[in-house]
Amino acid sequence: MYALMKFFVLLFAYAVLGWAQSCCQPPGGPNLARPVEANQSSTYIYALSPEVGGATVEGTADRAIDGNKESNAYLHPCSHTKYEQDPWWRLDMKQSNKIDTIVITNRQDCCSERLKGAEVRVGNSADNNNPICGTINDISKPIITLCCNGMVGRYVSVVIPGREEYLTLCEVEVYTG
Ligand SMILES: *[C@@H]1O[C@H](CO)[C@@H](O)[C@H](O)[C@H]1NC(C)=O
Repeated sequence: MYALMKFFVLLFAYAVLGWAQSCCQPPGGPNLARPVEANQSSTYIYALSPEVGGATVEGTADRAIDGNKESNAYLHPCSHTKYEQDPWWRLDMKQSNKIDTIVITNRQDCCSERLKGAEVRVGNSADNNNPICGTINDISKPIITLCCNGMVGRYVSVVIPGREEYLTLCEVEVYTG
């Protein structure tokens, strides 16, 4: 009897461990965020650093899916909304996918705290009210990894709810298991 109990406790422990490990493994599959389409609530225009030519760029939504993970927004353009209430960014993958991991590169030259409280949502609704995969609370590292545990959806949204803010994303990657 005791041996049987021990067996089930161990089985449970391994199942939990296995689940924890399968989530947020280094991504294996293709990045589903490319090449598709992204949009955002508004677009901010700014000048790059003189050391890279100083061109004026639009921080369009597709800057976050251009395959470049530079986290200095003045060296390489990041997506960048205007300062506004509840800014959002949304990826349209054109088909529903099962999503394991979302990897976000946050801006580092300044302002990384702006992303605090951002909700990352996954689902099939083209508004930004899909279920939440994760909320960004820890902005201490440039790379933020969220586990969606197989959430299914065509859209990935990043929304900053409840305040006026800029929403800047240097890269968003989406992976299946
Ligand atoms: C992108 O979002 C803006 C702001 O809501 C909207 O006006 C525009 O029609 C959208 N563009 C596309 C291609 O969906």
